[in-house]
Amino acid sequence: MKKIYITLTLVLISLLACTKVEKKVTGNFTNPNGETELASFMKSIHDETVLAKNACINGEKYTFKTKEQTLFTSDAADPDKVASERYKIFGQAYLNALNTYKKASKTDLADSYNQMVGACENCHQALCPGPLVRVKKLYL
Ligand code: HEC
Repeated sequence: MKKIYITLTLVLISLLACTKVEKKVTGNFTNPNGETELASFMKSIHDETVLAKNACINGEKYTFKTKEQTLFTSDAADPDKVASERYKIFGQAYLNALNTYKKASKTDLADSYNQMVGACENCHQALCPGPLVRVKKLYL
């Protein structure tokens, strides 16, 4: 009987731990969970990209609001990674793709949107593969 209680307690603890992790993942952008600045920046560009995807489906262009230079100024979980030459190159490639999207005409909209998601994917492939599944869902 005691063993069952111990098991139950352990299950309960791990469930509670899971809820905590879940909260961190879905937290808002005001950084209440001690996540890095770069992580909250990424969440907001991710969410804006979802809006851009929906706009694209309706043949419209979305206006990005997140300050793009934050890509280079945010504190990251791994500062060395973000200070690396590769990060700068991938980051600049993303900003270029974002600018192309901003200037795109209606006929180029879908193409330039997918190029922009490609730039997210390239950096993630090289430096931070964890969120790749979420990034790949952004393609049109
Ligand atoms: C120049 C490299 C680079 C580019 C470009 C980039 N990311 Fe990231 N991304 C990162 C790094 C590094 C992290 C980890 C941040 C940390 O933990 O401090 C990250 C984290 C994330 C996360 C996880 C955030 C969390 O919940 O902790 C998501 C989602 C994400 N990026 C989506 C995107 C999307 C969508 C784009 C394109 C619109 C994009 N990323 C472009 C490097 C990049």
